[in-house]
Amino acid sequence: MTETNSRQAEYSVDPLFLNRWSPRAFTGEAVPEKDLLTILDAARWAPSAFNSQPWRFVYGIKGTPAFDTLLGLLNDFNQSWAKDAGAVVVLLSKTHLLPPGASAEVPSYSHTLDAGAAWGIAALQATRLGYFTHGMTGVHFDKVQETLGVPDGHRAELAFVVGKRGDKSKLPEGLAAREEPSPRKPLAELAFEGSFKA
Ligand SMILES: Cc1cc2nc3c(=O)[nH]c(=O)nc-3n(C[C@H](O)[C@H](O)[C@H](O)COP(=O)(O)O)c2cc1C
Repeated sequence: MTETNSRQAEYSVDPLFLNRWSPRAFTGEAVPEKDLLTILDAARWAPSAFNSQPWRFVYGIKGTPAFDTLLGLLNDFNQSWAKDAGAVVVLLSKTHLLPPGASAEVPSYSHTLDAGAAWGIAALQATRLGYFTHGMTGVHFDKVQETLGVPDGHRAELAFVVGKRGDKSKLPEGLAAREEPSPRKPLAELAFEGSFKA
């Protein structure tokens, strides 16, 4: 059984999975573009239906106008702490795919699922590089298409920040108290042999 920080897995999982967690205190340092693109490169190796690769990323690095634009899409609560992140990324998915041999695109059953797999891999690659990520759906999704010039046929799924972890003392008291790795439900509540157990 793996144990790191305050987390304990039930089996011998790679510590990388426990070391990924979502802080809100960041240092304000910009993430070098090479590191951010390494994280997004990892994400594009996620599996997807028919290898359709529906994920799309719009990113902005701290200190650039793009960062300010993307930060402005977050709700007020998320902006209050995400302003000190080193980069903001909006993850979108393409809603239709072209099955092999077909001549026209059809709705994808799993574009959101596929994009979620890409996000998970991005978060783990970031962890491997010594960064932290924090995903958010506290986003003004209704403003994403126009603000970012997104063509029709895409769904905005999630925004996430990447950065170096900062000192939690700079957070408001309530948030500082929550600034630690969260636990998980027992595996037996989530994984069932043979049939679903409610
Ligand atoms: C889809 C999604 C949406 C989330 N939205 C927000 C958000 O808007 N604001 C926030 O502070 N955290 C948000 N979170 C972070 C979760 O609360 C966090 O991932 C969860 O509590 C598990 O903690 P951990 O990531 O530290 O393991 C979101 C996470 C995901 C995956």
